[in-house]
Amino acid sequence: MTSPLRGKHILLAMTGGIAGYKVAELTRLLVKAGATVQVMMTEAAQQFITPVTMQALSNRPVFIDQWDARPANNMAHIDLSREADAMLVAPASADAIAALAQGRADDLVSLTALARRIHECPLLVVPAMNREMWAHPATRRNVAQIEADGATVIGPASGDQACGEVGDGRMLEAQQIFDDVEARLAPKPLRGKKLLITAGPTFEPIDPVRGISNHSSGKMGFAIARAAAEAGADVTLVAGPVHLPTPRGVRRIDVQTARQMFDAVLPLAAQQHAFIATAAVADWRPAEVHEHKLKKAEGAVTAPTIAMAENPDILAAVAALSAPPYCVGFAAESEKLAEHADAKRRRKGIPLIVANLGPATFGRDDNALLLIDEQGQRELPEAGGRADKLSLARALIAELSTRL
Ligand code: C5P
Repeated sequence: MTSPLRGKHILLAMTGGIAGYKVAELTRLLVKAGATVQVMMTEAAQQFITPVTMQALSNRPVFIDQWDARPANNMAHIDLSREADAMLVAPASADAIAALAQGRADDLVSLTALARRIHECPLLVVPAMNREMWAHPATRRNVAQIEADGATVIGPASGDQACGEVGDGRMLEAQQIFDDVEARLAPKPLRGKKLLITAGPTFEPIDPVRGISNHSSGKMGFAIARAAAEAGADVTLVAGPVHLPTPRGVRRIDVQTARQMFDAVLPLAAQQHAFIATAAVADWRPAEVHEHKLKKAEGAVTAPTIAMAENPDILAAVAALSAPPYCVGFAAESEKLAEHADAKRRRKGIPLIVANLGPATFGRDDNALLLIDEQGQRELPEAGGRADKLSLARALIAELSTRL
């Protein structure tokens, strides 16, 4: 998977906290994504996890002392901050946040945060502390101050704490921090743009226990929502019934039926810059929804005949608005991909359609896309073959951003 973190250099500053063990895992994720990670640790951080562990995971000697003689100029705080694309303080203790708020410089972490070029090396702070410490007016004041000074605070989460109490202050999990850092360091070609995305299947009830639906895991649409949010867009995701977590920073509206999806989408559509319809919307619904479960008659074979009604075409309705957003449709075909998809594009009156082979994508983590517009076709991945859905989503969003 190509991550926006590939080739980035992260200065990872650890301060004292039990959550240090999560930062070991975070380091692994960053390195796996192709980032280089330079760890520095305060004395308190080393009470919880050793520099040996962090060196092994980051593949670089750890800095623990502002008087470290390794840099030729003996200025670790300058050198380390100049080469970094971001400084990530995790875990950030209440004490570390207080030091950042005051602009103190009495340990390597606070000194380096103060010495960095604030516009070139953003400061990302991941708090981890007891709930009373987090809620204390002094900490509230300090957090507000570091945000006013330009830092980004990631988290904290709420839940069980190492001290046995339950509340706000717990550090986010490694994967959540990773996703957030990745999103913040990605290029932002869609900043200021509003995107509306549909995803997943719809479910059309027959009675309280049965219904009809389409194949769709929602993975492609959720990946596109994530990639769009990473690219700086304001994203609303209208999702049918799927079991997927909401991408960070995305506004989600859950629906069940095609008509609910239509009702959620249409009032929002005119204010959007783009509408991406990845949902596998059921074309028909049972004309009548039975209030109670249809029962099998004793003995007799009586399969019911279910009358169907047509669902509205959401994408066609959005495309037919007087000033429609840029509309992107999806086409899942089983043969003659380009031909069928382009016919669909024309029929719906949309500028761009993304074609894929249905059976080869349903529920899978990878896919291959064919983008078709008036000018012609383009394959994703560029080199042919298949790629994971998040990489494809990022490529599609990059392409879309050149068109908006
Ligand atoms: O006509 P077909 O269902 O194959 O078209 C697929 C495209 O149209 C997808 O982008 C899908 O999300 C959208 N669509 C829709 N409302 C429907 C049917 C399809 O928005 N009722």
